[in-house]
Amino acid sequence: PILRKLQTAGYEAYYVGGSVRDILLNKPIHDVDIATSAFPAEVKELFHRTIDVGIDHGTVMVITKEATYEVTTFRTESTYQDYRRPDHVEFVRSLKEDLKRRDFTINALAVGIDGTVIDLFDGLEDLRNKVLRAVGNPHERFHEDALRMMRALRFVSHLGFTLEPNTFEAIQEYHSLLAKISVERINVEFVKLMMGSFREAGLRSFVESECYIYCPGLRNYGEALLNFSELRGPAIPTERQAWTLLMVMLDMNITNIRHFMKEWKCSNQLIREVTQMVPALQFRLKYEWDNWTLYQLGRELALSVEYLLYYFDREPNLAKIRLLYQYLPIYSLKDLALKGNEVMEHFDYPRGPWISMTLNVLEQEVVEGKL
Ligand code: CTP
Repeated sequence: PILRKLQTAGYEAYYVGGSVRDILLNKPIHDVDIATSAFPAEVKELFHRTIDVGIDHGTVMVITKEATYEVTTFRTESTYQDYRRPDHVEFVRSLKEDLKRRDFTINALAVGIDGTVIDLFDGLEDLRNKVLRAVGNPHERFHEDALRMMRALRFVSHLGFTLEPNTFEAIQEYHSLLAKISVERINVEFVKLMMGSFREAGLRSFVESECYIYCPGLRNYGEALLNFSELRGPAIPTERQAWTLLMVMLDMNITNIRHFMKEWKCSNQLIREVTQMVPALQFRLKYEWDNWTLYQLGRELALSVEYLLYYFDREPNLAKIRLLYQYLPIYSLKDLALKGNEVMEHFDYPRGPWISMTLNVLEQEVVEGKL
């Protein structure tokens, strides 16, 4: 409806950016970006409900009954000073100019109202071949916005694409520009990098391109990061789990974790959660893991046992995993907090600390197969 309204009013309008890429890849989409020849004031005149989200950059949020859309005027960005944001934006009336300034060919596709894909930089072919290629000259793209190098690695981690050789070389050449980017922005991309389905490849490129050297506190950890990248888990870690596993792999103590995560501008809450989990994990890693230890670990860290096994057993022991599957339902029983009352009833105990002590003993006996 938005495209139609803009077109009826005589403007050009297209879906652009990540949502086009994700639809063509059959992936779920989050935000829908629209690019138009209409200037922000013209967009605002056409729609009842709008919010100025970045009017200097030409973006107006349009709210409809069904969804919200970011509608951005076609633009070129001429001069860049802080390697992150263009300090001068020029609105233009041409889609081509707008697409030319985008980072990667797969992000530079546009879709018109009739569903035709406008593909000026062979993004469709790159999508098919799973290649991540900068639009035009990669040096220019990364010089304009150094964060794009981290975005590239993040896309590798999430899409499983390979970096086109010239794009990869440009990252290797320009990696030191990352030092000029704000830590908050790098943090966002780094967390996504750790959480992609193809994080092994993403993290490997992060190390091989030497981008890690220009990220806070990672300079001496190339090898540890490679080990981290080799860890395989069946599930996508949460942000908290990703940081926890990273800290364990970098063998950090509490003081170092605090310092490191502060440098990364992580929230205090996240730092607290991670510092609570890492020592327990480090401690237990020193010992043989019997079922009870694994079970407790999983519970304390809110990670599934299967997940932990994949992560810390270099040769995942399938028999062990199968065995442990039997115990997984216990977590949910525990979560239902069923037991206090049951124990009171069954043993005819009054309320008191012995209830939880009894529960622990029972729990251990179940896990160890004695009960
Ligand atoms: N873009 C760019 N350079 C950047 C950031 C964004 O050229 N540093 C362009 C790309 O065309 C991108 C679009 O702006 O597709 C939207 O950017 P953004 O929403 O940040 O990322 P997406 O590519 O949409 O990816 P996702 O939504 O998955 O984060």
